[in-house]
Amino acid sequence: MKEKIVELNREFKSTDIKELLDCFLKEYRGKIALSSSFGAEDQVLTDMILKIDANAQIFTLDTGRLPYETYDVMHRTNLKYKTKIRVYFPDAKDVEKLYKEQGINGFYESIENRKECCYVRKIAPLKRALKGLEIWITGLRAEQSSTRETMQLLEWDEANGVIKLNPMIFWSEADVWNYIKKNSVPYNALHDKGYPSIGCAPCTRAVEDGADIRSGRWWWESPEHKECGLHKIKEKK
Ligand code: ADX
Ligand code: SF4
Repeated sequence: MKEKIVELNREFKSTDIKELLDCFLKEYRGKIALSSSFGAEDQVLTDMILKIDANAQIFTLDTGRLPYETYDVMHRTNLKYKTKIRVYFPDAKDVEKLYKEQGINGFYESIENRKECCYVRKIAPLKRALKGLEIWITGLRAEQSSTRETMQLLEWDEANGVIKLNPMIFWSEADVWNYIKKNSVPYNALHDKGYPSIGCAPCTRAVEDGADIRSGRWWWESPEHKECGLHKIKEKK
């Protein structure tokens, strides 16, 4: 698989993003999906993808702790594109167990608690969502953080057994916003209130202008821990 990924990266390195999406959506029909958190990057991809194929698969992981504004943009997106983005919820029993073990906001108390909460609310539902897929499209950008600098356009995701396609990996923040404005793409209202990156409400806060994009996510932890596990850099052996 590693050779295949190297080859695909070489082949698609300079391909225009819409052409790239068109090609993958056709080639992997029924086996490809975008995961959307309704952040700015995902909204760009949603717009491009649904313009290519109105029935393309897009899903979101509703952790049960999302900000109101995220549900609002979810609603506006469904209306604008006359679609119903698929929602995966965490398993009710797992959430009840998590609550018994660490209380309602136990993620502030330790990295272990935080990772357990992310596992129950995001990773386990993600595994269900990716079942049967070959290509997982994400809105990751290399500029977003030190942990993402080395990411590629295409990557093999060992943990989930899928190829990850990151069409916006080399986009800048300005590219994202130019596209959104030019195409009147609905976006999360929190972006205008100092939130460049948006996750769960209790684990996301506003940042100063020009601050590190992800510094408002899990702000009480050090930068190398700031991944919830959806996008592991290297699999632990
Ligand atoms: S996270 O790992 O820290 O939460 P981030 O918010 O930067 O990730 O988003 C990066 C990409 O991960 C998004 O473009 C999207 O593809 C995916 N993603 C993140 N959160 C979700 C979610 N709740 N539902 C679906 N996809 C998500
Ligand atoms: Fe839980 Fe926070 Fe992770 Fe959301 S981001 S799943 S609330 S620890």
